[in-house]
Amino acid sequence: MSERIKDWRIKNWVFDASKPFDLTGKAIIVTGAGSGIGRAITLGIDAMGGNVVLADIVEEGMDEVAKELKNDYLTLKVDVTSEADVKNMVEQTLSTFNKIDGCFNAPAINFRLPFLELSADQWTKVWNVNIGGVCLCAREVGKVMVKQKYGSMVNIASFRGLVGAKEGRQSIYSASKGAVVILTKCLAAEWGEFNVRVNAIAPGMTKTPLVTQILKDDDWYNELASMHVLNRFAEPEEMVGAAIFLVSDASTFITGTTLLVDGGLTAV
Ligand SMILES: NC(=O)c1ccc[n+]([C@@H]2O[C@H](COP(=O)([O-])OP(=O)(O)OC[C@H]3O[C@@H](n4cnc5c(N)ncnc54)[C@H](O)[C@@H]3O)[C@@H](O)[C@H]2O)c1
Repeated sequence: MSERIKDWRIKNWVFDASKPFDLTGKAIIVTGAGSGIGRAITLGIDAMGGNVVLADIVEEGMDEVAKELKNDYLTLKVDVTSEADVKNMVEQTLSTFNKIDGCFNAPAINFRLPFLELSADQWTKVWNVNIGGVCLCAREVGKVMVKQKYGSMVNIASFRGLVGAKEGRQSIYSASKGAVVILTKCLAAEWGEFNVRVNAIAPGMTKTPLVTQILKDDDWYNELASMHVLNRFAEPEEMVGAAIFLVSDASTFITGTTLLVDGGLTAV
């Protein structure tokens, strides 16, 4: 066997083809765990045997999710735009689990207004949470993963980060999601040599509190649903398969990619 094949990155790794998605014993942070897609991913990780650190700015949702967990977990009130909160999240995770195997960066906010009506305060808020929050979490968690020489980070982007919005009212949100997509590639490139993978999921429209305004308006819902080849919005649980795939050993040679889970929206 050549020296290259005996590389430290793979020499201690044994692939079990019977359970590539198994997360038993892993410690995985989910920011935005209290609602919607983050909630569904948290429950999915737990179902696959993983231990979750639930982090969210709102505690009530997290506490409800935590009641459903079978494995070890930690709930932390975290504002992803606060350096102190994010540093504390990493410290608490390490003092409880001694490592960080995976991290999902999920929180995002949106103001659905025509660009000409957006205030600087509104776009700053969107920018701070949607890309600033991902940057802070990625940097602090990334420091640990790079030191460990393993880890899988998954950013929740959006189809909005890949295509323009014909219907308007998405400019700053879409720009922030485009930034998440390219940040994902750049971090994958920086951390590849340390065996740390960074990928993103780009969901299509998904039935969560983030889109309550749309779900309450039949015409708006139908217009957006019809953009998907499957002609509907996703349930949050439909993001779980991609999430488990990207955080688990099923995807050890995948990094820098953005996995579309968009009901075919970008196929047409
Ligand atoms: N719902 C959709 O149609 C859709 C489509 C594409 C992408 N996404 C993306 O999926 C991700 C999850 O969105 P969702 O639809 O589940 O939304 P959601 O509003 O249901 O959940 C977002 C969670 O993030 C938390 N949060 C908000 N600001 C925070 C902050 N500063 N610090 C910590 N937590 C904070 C909220 O409390 C909430 O629990 C987002 O990145 C969103 O852009 C959603």
